[in-house]
Amino acid sequence: MSGRKPIRKAVFPVAGLGTRFLPATKAIPKEMLPIIDRPLIQYAVDEAREAGIEQMIFVTGRGKTALIDHFDVAFELEVTLRERAKDMAALEPTRIQPGNLATVRQQVPLGLGHAIWCARGIVGDEPFAILLPDELMIANADGGPGCMKQMVEAYDEVGGNLISVLAVPREEVSSYGVITPGTSRGALTEVRGLVEKPKVEEAPSNLIVSGRYILQPEVMRTLEGQEKGAGGEIQLTDAMARMIGAQPFHAVTFAGKRYDCGSKAGFVEATLAVALEREDLRDEVRAIAQRLLGLTT
Ligand code: UTP
Repeated sequence: MSGRKPIRKAVFPVAGLGTRFLPATKAIPKEMLPIIDRPLIQYAVDEAREAGIEQMIFVTGRGKTALIDHFDVAFELEVTLRERAKDMAALEPTRIQPGNLATVRQQVPLGLGHAIWCARGIVGDEPFAILLPDELMIANADGGPGCMKQMVEAYDEVGGNLISVLAVPREEVSSYGVITPGTSRGALTEVRGLVEKPKVEEAPSNLIVSGRYILQPEVMRTLEGQEKGAGGEIQLTDAMARMIGAQPFHAVTFAGKRYDCGSKAGFVEATLAVALEREDLRDEVRAIAQRLLGLTT
C-alpha cells in the first residue's frame, strides 16, 4: 500500500450538447449512443469499476435522464423477461449499488472545466477520476488493464495528478490539449506544461490529452472563478496547467486503443474494431467488411 488516499470516485461529464451527432442527439444523450449493444456510458462505467472505483458521479443536463434510467431497475422489463424465462445477464452491467450513483446538473454547458467544477460538492476533499465517455478506451486483447486501471496503478506509485496521453500526427494536435513532456520512464512521462488547442506550429509536442484523468481536489479551487479559454469555454486543461509545479503531474501512455467516438468516423471505427474483437460477431463482421470493400463477392 502506498498510503495515498484511494481513488473511490469517478466523475463522468455528460452535459455536452453533442452537436456533431445531430439529429441523433436531439432527444437522446450522445453518451447513450451504442457501440454494438452497449451505450458509451456503460463502457466508461465498466472501465471505472475495473479500476476499483465505487462511486459514479454524472454531471448531466436537461434531456439526459436516459443516462440515469440506464443504471436504474427497469421493473416492467425485468418482470417480463423473468415471466418469459429470458436471460437476464445482459442487464447485469447496468446494476449500480444503491447510493453509488450521484448526479449533479450543469445548467449551462460552459465547458469541460465548468462541468467538473459542478461536481465539487460530491467529490469533496479527495483525489478523483474523470472519464469522458465519448472517448472509448479498449484494453489490448492479451488481457492487459483498462486505461483507468493502468492510471490508478500509476497513481499508487507516483501520486499527484495524472492524465492519459497518446501520440497523434502533428497536424491533428489543434483539436486537443497537448502536453510539454519532461522525462519518461516506461509508460509514465513527466508533464511540464499543458496547452489547449494550440496551433500546429506552436504545439509543444504531438502528445494529446485523451479523456482520462486522476486529479487532486485542489483543481476545484483552481477552476473557481477561472476565465474562459479556447472556444469560449472554461477549460479543464487551463486549470491543470496552473497546477503544474505545485503538485506532481504525470502522463500515462495507455497500453491499448483509444477511439474518438465524439466524431462520426471515430464512432464507425470503434464499432468495427469492437465487433472484430468480439467472438460472437468477429467472423460475420469480417466477411461483411470484406464484401463491402469488394475483397470478396
Ligand atoms: P465535447 O467537447 O465532445 O462536446 O465534450 P459535446 O458537446 O459533447 O459534443 P459536440 O462537440 O457538440 O459534438 C467532451 C465531454 O465533455 C462533456 C460532454 O458531454 C462530453 O462527454 N461536456 C462538455 C460537459 O459535460 N459539459 C460541457 O460544457 C462540455
